[in-house]
Amino acid sequence: MQRTLSIIKPDAVGRNLSGAILKMIQDAGLTVKAMKLIRMTKEQAEGFYAVHKARPFFADLCCFMCSGPVVVSVLEGEGAVTRYRDLMGATNPANAAEGTIRKQYALDIEKNSVHGSDAPETAAVEIAYFFSQLEIVG
Ligand code: CMP
Repeated sequence: MQRTLSIIKPDAVGRNLSGAILKMIQDAGLTVKAMKLIRMTKEQAEGFYAVHKARPFFADLCCFMCSGPVVVSVLEGEGAVTRYRDLMGATNPANAAEGTIRKQYALDIEKNSVHGSDAPETAAVEIAYFFSQLEIVG
């Protein structure tokens, strides 16, 4: 069993798409082990995306991520990291395959509706960024 961190981003939460996206996640066989609705501060968004600090899109990305509420969740399943990334589709929705969340709902490369961890090691760090052990249902 593997865990990954999912974020339903402000563009999707703001269009009331959280339920539809969670249905796609659950229909794909991933299990929600923890979930909350939060609004990140600029500092929290900058900390979360620190790995992208040198990128030209960093400031805009952090600004977008704290522009409204997000739904953060811990997903579990066999190969959850890759399975969720496959379900999300390409970062740029213009390149996303049919049937993926980003193909269906993302607006552009920044407002791309969802985030998912890119590796098991990253997932552990990202999960701990938002959730304590007590908040994750075993
Ligand atoms: P995410 O999977 O959350 O990881 C980093 C985010 O940065 C990515 O989704 C996009 O929202 C954003 N991003 C990546 N590349 C670009 C880009 N070229 N221009 C603007 N935003 C980007």
